[in-house]
Amino acid sequence: MHRFSYKKNNLYCEGCKVEDLAKKFGTPLYVYSQKTILDHFFKIQKAFASIKPLICYSVKANSNLSILRLLIQNGAGLDIVSGGELYRAKKAKCPSKRIVYASVGKTKDEIREAIKSGILMFNVESVPELKRINMVAALLKKRVNVALRLNPDVEPQTHNYVATGKAKSKFGMDIRTLKSTILSQKAYSNVNIIGIHIHIGSQVTVPEPFIKAIRKVKSLIKELKKENIQIKYFNIGGGLGIVYDKEQPQTAKEFASKVLPLLKDLSCKIILEPGRFIVGNAGILVTNVTYIKDSPQRRFVIVDAAMNDLIRPALYGSYQKIVPLKEMRKRKPHTVKTSDIVGPICESADFLGKRRYLDVGEGEYIAVLGSGAYSFSMSSNYNSRPRAAEVLVKGKQASLIRKRETYRDLVDKETNI
Ligand code: LLP
Repeated sequence: MHRFSYKKNNLYCEGCKVEDLAKKFGTPLYVYSQKTILDHFFKIQKAFASIKPLICYSVKANSNLSILRLLIQNGAGLDIVSGGELYRAKKAKCPSKRIVYASVGKTKDEIREAIKSGILMFNVESVPELKRINMVAALLKKRVNVALRLNPDVEPQTHNYVATGKAKSKFGMDIRTLKSTILSQKAYSNVNIIGIHIHIGSQVTVPEPFIKAIRKVKSLIKELKKENIQIKYFNIGGGLGIVYDKEQPQTAKEFASKVLPLLKDLSCKIILEPGRFIVGNAGILVTNVTYIKDSPQRRFVIVDAAMNDLIRPALYGSYQKIVPLKEMRKRKPHTVKTSDIVGPICESADFLGKRRYLDVGEGEYIAVLGSGAYSFSMSSNYNSRPRAAEVLVKGKQASLIRKRETYRDLVDKETNI
């Protein structure tokens, strides 16, 4: 469910006409619906209410401070992966005991900052990293909590680039290494191993891979219990898929109904790290048509957004629906030619969609749906393009939550030598 729909032929985000926003704030423009973000967050909260988990929203999906604040104020914690995300978490006033920190390459400085901030725990991805955390903690005369990330070696049935729980991927530890590390906890006098973490991949639409991975952790936790080792936290990661096209992903409720029975007898505090599920369908990218170009083999709709604004189609071949802000006149699709929707960047990978039926002309606006997650947060300045503005809609009110970058911003950090 999202809050983007047509009223009298015009696309609305909640109570705001999107075309008015495009005219007011310019394009390319990201528009987010606050109600959609909260609805999705509450869906997960409600589905898991019986075990009161800590829901750590995955900052990388959309790291705008206003969105972080909104979720934090409604009870979310944060899943971070860098010093920059820690900085954002603190700026957004996230209580430190609601922050968990993953990433395979945490540096000494990042570890030090996170320890000083008093985060809930690190999700540790390797033995060398555990040694490093132990060493930094010793220097700071602290004892820090960690979870070890298990690589459960499961196939999440998603795009290879976002599958993270297969044996060949760089994430987490294999089960033998993880177990022997926990058994040698004494060697790490400045860390407490209190949890196990998994995150098997992103845009996972079926429950089976989660179930497989959770079962592996469950039997490990039971084995450890026999050795008198109590695991207090089990972080089951993020990864819930959403609808971009014709997917029929599990709902939060369906997901919970499959995994809750597995978790109930563990007496662990459960952590979840959803990102895309919360913000994915809560955002659109609005762009204006610069030209219609008809070439012998193809029709191109050339727009003012590009792969620097939204790289998912180029990077993963992802499909995201593209719709006009004025509802398509009731023509039969076959009377409209298919078009490639492309940006102005000098690369053939600069497309937002291919072979789409889109009845639009120069100067009109279109929107790329499903652009709330991994969209602005993956944007860049390639081709010296200032990054887009972001607007958060709440009912009839629209607030600018990130100004459009200027040309000055592009060169601001560069020095004259
Ligand atoms: N936890 C960890 C440790 C993660 O690495 C991620 C995402 C999440 C949670 C949140 O996953 P989600 O619930 O959003 O699926 N750029 C890609 C997705 C990359 C996901 C990276 N990790 C895309 O646009 O599809």
